[in-house]
Amino acid sequence: MRVREIRLKRYPEGVPKETDFEIAETEVPDPGAGQLCLRPLFLSIDPYQRNRMRGPAAGLKPGQVIEGRCIAEVAASRHPDFGAGDMVFANAPWAEASLTDGNGVRRLDPDLGPPQLHLGAAGVPGLTAFVGLNDIGHMKPGETVLVSAAAGAVGSMACQIAKLNGCRVIGTVGSARKARWLLDEVGIDEAVDYSQETDLIAAIRRRCPDGADLVFECVGGRHLEAGLAALKAHGRVVLCGLMAGMNGASPAPGNLDQVVMKRIGIQGFVVGDHMSRMAAFLAEMKNWLATGAIHWQETVVDGIENTPKAFIGLFSGLNLGKMLVKVSEPTAGTR
Ligand SMILES: NC(=O)c1ccc[n+]([C@@H]2O[C@H](COP(=O)([O-])OP(=O)(O)OC[C@H]3O[C@@H](n4cnc5c(N)ncnc54)[C@H](OP(=O)(O)O)[C@@H]3O)[C@@H](O)[C@H]2O)c1
Repeated sequence: MRVREIRLKRYPEGVPKETDFEIAETEVPDPGAGQLCLRPLFLSIDPYQRNRMRGPAAGLKPGQVIEGRCIAEVAASRHPDFGAGDMVFANAPWAEASLTDGNGVRRLDPDLGPPQLHLGAAGVPGLTAFVGLNDIGHMKPGETVLVSAAAGAVGSMACQIAKLNGCRVIGTVGSARKARWLLDEVGIDEAVDYSQETDLIAAIRRRCPDGADLVFECVGGRHLEAGLAALKAHGRVVLCGLMAGMNGASPAPGNLDQVVMKRIGIQGFVVGDHMSRMAAFLAEMKNWLATGAIHWQETVVDGIENTPKAFIGLFSGLNLGKMLVKVSEPTAGTR
């Protein structure tokens, strides 16, 4: 079978451009013994993929197909654990179909809701928020938590997990639409549209006059600077990610003296070190989803050919909630 796939054409300089990628055709043979053929329905579009495009040492070389998490249907199988029609989570090429030996492939929990939730609220983004707040940030009820990129896949889960644990939550976002969603539907306490603020430190201080206890940082640069300024003495920063530095050098906050003066603790983490927490996380998330306690959004870009556009969109704030690419529809009889 001939399918389309997305390859890296050249290492991006700065913010990636569509010309840094190419769409190519490749042949996918029938599965051999022990193999299965996956047909992705949704690709997960994630910032970490930019790190793999940084140069020869980063993992991905020009001409190679890009890989990532996806939800897929098993199109054909000669693997003992999977049959045609199974709906699975996998790491797979950005392609309309591919072969795998089943390593890392797992069946979906049908009770969780739509399958693509396994890429967002009930997947790695949700786990990242859960681990970051609980295990790294040691969040406590009654605390004030500041979240950046608050309407994104991780940020929107961090906001809600903090609220569900009795915290006051302030989120920063890049548009009025995102701020409205967080305030009106998600129910956080304060939202700051940073695109309208020249003085982010003052804008956060107005919403948080008594200071924050915990910063859940997804952006860095002036966002981290504003977080350090807002923190109380002995405040904590969970350094989840640095969107502002993904396409160049990470901009350092100009007020690191705050870390000394306020005895601030800063801890980074990589969720891959905490996969053993998935079961505990899913037990809580399943309950929250079943009771309607968690709101989620997804931005779905249609068609494998538009995957580069979706990926680039992460850096301009195109997405509300989880960024996904829809590659195909499930066939009848999927389970
Ligand atoms: N530590 C870990 O193990 C781990 C795991 C997963 C994700 N992460 C990190 O978590 C963060 C969020 O990831 P995600 O998958 O949930 O992505 P996301 O938040 O759904 O999408 C990225 C968002 O970042 C914001 N953004 C992009 N460039 C920006 C800039 N220059 N300045 C300010 N905001 C910018 C945009 O929102 P606005 O429109 O609001 O600006 C954009 O929608 C990333 O930093 C990622 O690297 C870390």
